[in-house]
Amino acid sequence: VSRRLTRRGFLAVSGGALAGGAALTGALLERGAGGGRPPPLGPPHPGLPARQHAWDATLARDRDGNPRPPRFHRLLLFDVARAPGPADVRRLEGALRGLERRHAWGPGGLLFLVAWGPAYFERTLGVPSPVPRPRPLSSFEAPALDDYGCCVHLASDDEERLRRLDGALRGEGTLPGGERGVGDALRWRETRTGFVGVGLPAARQDVSGIPPGRPVPSGAPLFMGFRSGLRRNQAGEDEVTIGAGRLAGGTTMHVSRIRLRLDSWYGLLDERQRVARMYAPQVSPAQAARFTDDAPSQPEPLAEAAVRYGVVGHAQAAAQARRAGRPRLLRRDFDSTDGGEAGVHFVSLQRSVADFVATRLAMNAARAPYLNPGITQEVNNGINEWIEVVRRANFLIPRREERAYPLLPGRGPALA
Ligand code: HEM
Repeated sequence: VSRRLTRRGFLAVSGGALAGGAALTGALLERGAGGGRPPPLGPPHPGLPARQHAWDATLARDRDGNPRPPRFHRLLLFDVARAPGPADVRRLEGALRGLERRHAWGPGGLLFLVAWGPAYFERTLGVPSPVPRPRPLSSFEAPALDDYGCCVHLASDDEERLRRLDGALRGEGTLPGGERGVGDALRWRETRTGFVGVGLPAARQDVSGIPPGRPVPSGAPLFMGFRSGLRRNQAGEDEVTIGAGRLAGGTTMHVSRIRLRLDSWYGLLDERQRVARMYAPQVSPAQAARFTDDAPSQPEPLAEAAVRYGVVGHAQAAAQARRAGRPRLLRRDFDSTDGGEAGVHFVSLQRSVADFVATRLAMNAARAPYLNPGITQEVNNGINEWIEVVRRANFLIPRREERAYPLLPGRGPALA
């Protein structure tokens, strides 16, 4: 149904639909230039999940059933430059539908989602944000707190495809494939790039933060030498989905940028000491090598770890935040060499940002230094010593049908 909606028609429909919010709608549309003539909008691509974050069904599995994440990732970060109008909604939705038509949904083609930050809800729409602004989450970090309006997460096994689409979405010309930009109501500010998967960190380890001697093993999927994301240590997509209310079918996303400084990780520690810090001191390297779909994170013996071993493990500490025995985060993080620095873009999905905050606070293991003075907030305390959080951001991921400017009054008719 590619009925064109005139600006007048849009005002009439949205004004009628919105008794209490009519003033807001009028104001938005007055300010919103609307981006010119609404571009044609193809129909929604059939067969895609209603939840934007439902990626797992498309992922290959290892023999233990653990999903293998797409090898390459990009986070495109935008400001919302002005109040959006109907043409902006159609332009963004049209660009996204174009991606779905041209690239198979999956890591062999493309996976993506669009998320919106507090700046969009508060400043653009003038409504309370469904996600809180980010804040520092340990006493030893001082991250910049991002206030981007919009984040697009692209993922694929094809790095070159992501590079091309990044340029296309930012509006750098139309590609032969017919890709379109997101429109000028979104002002591109930054792209973060990265990778995860066996061999990639070793091949890209010549950056600051990794000591000389090429210590990252060739079989490692991540810079720190361990694999992450075993399925029982992750929340499922159902568990992180908002169940009821206006935002049902969506979820929340935390995005932090972490700098890795692995000199002493590889220079001073042996494998046993690294395993103790990543999992728990009660875990041996031989046991860790046999983990299949679950790293038994042993939250209960954390006090024993502190008192008897003088070390607590990262997974052990994070698991203190489990609810009814289940992790609360679905981690979709990946490594990075942005800016010539070894780093992690820590992308995490959870039903509520409060789940992220609780888990991240648990990772501080704040009680451990009281149990053993040999442990500080950073020393002998999981992996805290080697990771430095430099930026934090929170977003809402709406369900697919609401991904272009969610909660904007009148957006439905604009897409009709
Ligand atoms: C930055 C480098 C990090 C690395 C290399 C890393 C690695 C790991 C590994 C190897 C595990 C155990 C097994 C598994 O994931 O399947 C784990 C568990 C976990 N990590 Fe991390 N992690 C990192 C940062 C973080 C951060 C920033 C958070 C935020 C809270 C976090 C939260 C968790 C959680 C919730 C678990 C599962 C705990 C459970 O089983 O309940 N990790 N991590």
